Amino acid sequence: MVSIPDSTAVVTGAASGMGRSIAHEFAADGAAVVVVDVDEEGADAVVEEIESDGGDAVAVHADLLDPDSAGRILDQTLAAYDSVDILCNNAGVLDDYASAGETSDELWDRVIGVNLTAAFRLIREFLPVLQDGEEEGVVINNASIAGKTAGAGGAAYTTSKHGLIGFTKQLSNDYGPEIRANAVCPGAVETGMTEEMLEEMEAMTADTPAERYAQPEEVATVVTFLASDDASFVHGAAVNVDGGWLVD
Ligand SMILES: NC(=O)c1ccc[n+]([C@@H]2O[C@H](COP(=O)([O-])OP(=O)(O)OC[C@H]3O[C@@H](n4cnc5c(N)ncnc54)[C@H](O)[C@@H]3O)[C@@H](O)[C@H]2O)c1
Repeated sequence: MVSIPDSTAVVTGAASGMGRSIAHEFAADGAAVVVVDVDEEGADAVVEEIESDGGDAVAVHADLLDPDSAGRILDQTLAAYDSVDILCNNAGVLDDYASAGETSDELWDRVIGVNLTAAFRLIREFLPVLQDGEEEGVVINNASIAGKTAGAGGAAYTTSKHGLIGFTKQLSNDYGPEIRANAVCPGAVETGMTEEMLEEMEAMTADTPAERYAQPEEVATVVTFLASDDASFVHGAAVNVDGGWLVD
């Protein structure tokens, strides 16, 4: 089992929104954190914040659309820390709710590339390291309610998130118990991705049980719980963190 205080956690898309909160939560729990993002300034700022809070973090600047980025992220992680215990594939991009007919090849490739293919490549690269040692390796993928239902994104986004949940289950099937893989499925959350649609999100969430959208910390604490020993029997789950959006 992974003890977060002694662990190293790699978080993608950690310069902003939920990734930033997840990086802070891991650091507050005592993990060394690798802050991965294409936004170099944002990643460096998160590292500074963590260090000024007394935590331990390094930034890795990488564009996850580059097929070689997974190898470089692993190399730079291992240059900074001896091992990796937790990989959180959090980076994601929206498709502006484009239906299939409105989706260009470029949009499809970008959304599937960041949200799904990058997670696959990173996991493939990190598997040997995550399986190395006596402790289990932990993978947490940030999916979405769009991974379970239509209408919470467009064609590419919804497809990518359904794929990410399927991929998480297959990882559990293939690599448990050495790897404990789970996904989180946030509903509406106030982040960089949604900062220009807060009024819309307020309306969309008005008739959900929570009657509001979430703050990123409310997802981050579920991610660190799933990574912790307290979730030792949770394998292959896609946990809703959606204020009840998907309740029947
Ligand atoms: N905000 C929501 O309401 C919501 C709901 C459900 C799921 N999600 C998912 O949560 C995750 C985090 O999103 P967020 O809402 O915090 O958004 P955000 O835009 O605040 O953060 C996403 C981060 O990913 C990084 N990123 C994007 N493309 C990248 C690339 N090619 N290479 C490296 N980094 C890249 C961005 O620079 C950014 O820092 C995403 O996977 C998103 O799909 C968001």
